[in-house]
Amino acid sequence: MKPKLRVRRASDDANDQAAGLRRMAREHQATQDAPTARDVARPGLTVAVTSGKGGVGKTNIAVNLSLCLQARGLATSLVDLDMGLANADLILGANPDCDLYDVLHRRRDLDDAIKQTESGVHFATATVGAGSRNPLNDIERARMVDLARRMPGDVCVLDCAAGIDSNVTAFARSADVVLVVTTPEPTALTDAYATVKTLFLEGYGGSVRVLVNMVETRTEAREAFERLQQTCEKFLKFPIADAGYVLHDTHVELAVRQRSPVVMRYPRCSASICVTAIAARLVGGRSVARRAPDLLRRVVGMFV
Ligand SMILES: Nc1ncnc2c1ncn2[C@@H]1O[C@H](COP(=O)(O)OP(=O)(O)OP(=O)(O)O)[C@@H](O)[C@H]1O
Ligand SMILES: [Mg+2]
Repeated sequence: MKPKLRVRRASDDANDQAAGLRRMAREHQATQDAPTARDVARPGLTVAVTSGKGGVGKTNIAVNLSLCLQARGLATSLVDLDMGLANADLILGANPDCDLYDVLHRRRDLDDAIKQTESGVHFATATVGAGSRNPLNDIERARMVDLARRMPGDVCVLDCAAGIDSNVTAFARSADVVLVVTTPEPTALTDAYATVKTLFLEGYGGSVRVLVNMVETRTEAREAFERLQQTCEKFLKFPIADAGYVLHDTHVELAVRQRSPVVMRYPRCSASICVTAIAARLVGGRSVARRAPDLLRRVVGMFV
């Protein structure tokens, strides 16, 4: 008797791939003996802002989101963890003269590297100046994560570099929430998927949210998010949440040229309104009393 031939469908391939990836994720987790930052609780909420593709607006989002969270009554810190091209200080108007690399290697105190800005946001940067440091080894990377965890306040926002190198993914995995920034362009969406897939493979257990930046309309943002969500669901069976969107707005560029955060320079422009809404959504649409990290975590958890 002839064996029954079963027609192989595209969905079988996707299921096989998802199963294979899940197995790889389990193996990766089992072989990780170095503690990730999530093994040690930070007494507050940490949000990492990252992306696959560069230049999609992470630094602007991280800076302005920090200001919006601070304005909601949450003591907020911002750490620029872009090891190669740190530049959040330019937009925030902070002038750090000591960086976290100095804290690691030159016996400077963390307090020396933290600047409180006019807005109240505490700021630290991994490196002052571009490309002047050696790459981090595993121990330095873990210590850098630990420094970021010691930043003051209820919320700490990490501005990470683009891509999926070990610095980026280690910093992202240290956060409770990873905000993956993308634009609606297919190239940026493909790279955003690579970021989500890497976090998944590395066993990230926090909340992954996608923010679509520089969109012309809300519908464009929705469609881009849904495309990415469906791909993550199909190939990884990994849920991602919608963090919101920011409209393309020339005020962002104008504010950058003036070395100011757009939410301060042009608080009523469409990009500022979008970032304000994203901050509200992140913490559950309400201001949370200072020093209530457990409550904050619970509120964020409700929206995961
Ligand atoms: N919503 C927006 N509307 C218009 N321009 C924007 C918007 N968001 C960001 N930009 C512009 O995009 C450019 C890149 O922004 P930004 O430096 O924040 O990106 P990035 O992802 O941090 O880049 P990198 O990968 O190099 O760190 C800047 O010129 C900025 O003014
Ligand atoms: Mg940047």
